[in-house]
Amino acid sequence: MNYKSLLKSKKFKIAVWGTGYIGLSTMVYFAKKKIKCIGYDINKEKIKKINSGTLPLEDLRKWFGFDIRGLVKQNYLKATSNYKNLITKEFLVHFIAIPTEKNGKPYYKPLMSVLNNISKIKQENKTPPIVIVESTLAPKVSDKKIIPFLKKKKMTIGKNILLSVAPRRDWFIEGGKNLENLDRVYGSTDKKSTKVTKDVLSIVCKKLHVASSYKVSEMVKSVENAYRHMDITLANQLSLAFPKDNIREVLKLVGTKWNVEAFHPGIGAGGYCIPLSSRYILSQVKNAKKLSLLRETVKTDDGMSKLIANSIAKRGLKKIGVLGLSYKGDLKVSVLSKVIPLIKFLIKKKIKVKLYDPYFSNKEIYDAARVKTFSFPKDLPNFDGLILSVDHKQFKIRKKILEKYLKNCKLIIDHDGAWKKYNLKNNYYLSGDRGWI
Ligand SMILES: NC(=O)c1ccc[n+]([C@@H]2O[C@H](COP(=O)([O-])OP(=O)(O)OC[C@H]3O[C@@H](n4cnc5c(N)ncnc54)[C@H](O)[C@@H]3O)[C@@H](O)[C@H]2O)c1
Repeated sequence: MNYKSLLKSKKFKIAVWGTGYIGLSTMVYFAKKKIKCIGYDINKEKIKKINSGTLPLEDLRKWFGFDIRGLVKQNYLKATSNYKNLITKEFLVHFIAIPTEKNGKPYYKPLMSVLNNISKIKQENKTPPIVIVESTLAPKVSDKKIIPFLKKKKMTIGKNILLSVAPRRDWFIEGGKNLENLDRVYGSTDKKSTKVTKDVLSIVCKKLHVASSYKVSEMVKSVENAYRHMDITLANQLSLAFPKDNIREVLKLVGTKWNVEAFHPGIGAGGYCIPLSSRYILSQVKNAKKLSLLRETVKTDDGMSKLIANSIAKRGLKKIGVLGLSYKGDLKVSVLSKVIPLIKFLIKKKIKVKLYDPYFSNKEIYDAARVKTFSFPKDLPNFDGLILSVDHKQFKIRKKILEKYLKNCKLIIDHDGAWKKYNLKNNYYLSGDRGWI
């Protein structure tokens, strides 16, 4: 019997390690297909919320487009903080969706801890469990860490444990860009793992692309994002090289060419995937002369926040309000958000900074950026400059109301164009406009 039928028989279940954006969405999509899923997480608050039928990630409500309560009630979706509940024979599939980054660097402690838990499963050859790694891995991590670890635990890959690397590409802002619809690449260690992965993923994913090996699928994720990292950074380099030209407009029109995407200059790349991709690749390349394009990309990208802070200081501004901690609009993700170093550099220049983001509590804002928050729009008159780093829908208030609060504002830098249509008088720049930096 194939794994798809075994899962559909309801005698077997899926275990998901890590119930964040990636893990939770895996659980939800499989649960929707009437497959029983149990997630494990070290965050007890998340476990509680999931089991009570509440989405722990509020910002995903729109993305999913439905409530998870029904799935929880029907027993398709559950979470636990006891890993032992997931290492029984009834779990045929183990998706790994834990973080693989800490402080902007590749970090594998959670991955090794999860593998250690999985290695405690009682081994059997008839229907061995499959481990599908969804977390982003740097090239070679499977060969250097995962496979040696499993071997050390006396597991025989392809016999009593199966293994695949199947990275994710979801875009949690656009409902359609999800597990079901997006092209998904996977690669495995052996024929049996390849077949079983196809069985399992095809329950949800409509477009699967098999790689000849896990080494390839592992590399695909970092390389595809490194391309974006370079593209975004080229936009910034152009803006720095031609400060008197409107590079934003140039690039918008460049993007009308059929094979070119439109990028725009800004504070730099944020989030889990893009800024890390080049680092993941470079972490495996010892020769400092290789991949100079990616080395320059990291350097320029990391340098943007300091350059912007210096240019704001040069204008003589003293109080800056930053709108948006998330790295992207209408999403609650502050991982590697470029406003964090920007705020640090502004403070170094003796500028007073406060930060507001409707998706984060005062404490979350302070913990992430070490500054206080403010009320929006009420406190806007306290600032002589504003940086609008993302286009959260809450920022798009009526022009007439907004203008009332901008009387003292001498500079606005708008990253995503949230206020573009307002024709504001206050020295308003889209990032990349002539003279924005
Ligand atoms: N969010 C995205 O857009 C995205 C896209 C593609 C790939 N990824 C990758 O997927 C992975 C997970 O990302 P995410 O966005 O879901 O992260 P997340 O922070 O939203 O979720 C990770 C979860 O793992 C839990 N966790 C941490 N250590 C654990 C452990 N030892 N055991 C069990 N649970 C543990 C955390 O408490 C958290 O709930 C990362 O490798 C990331 O790079 C993320």
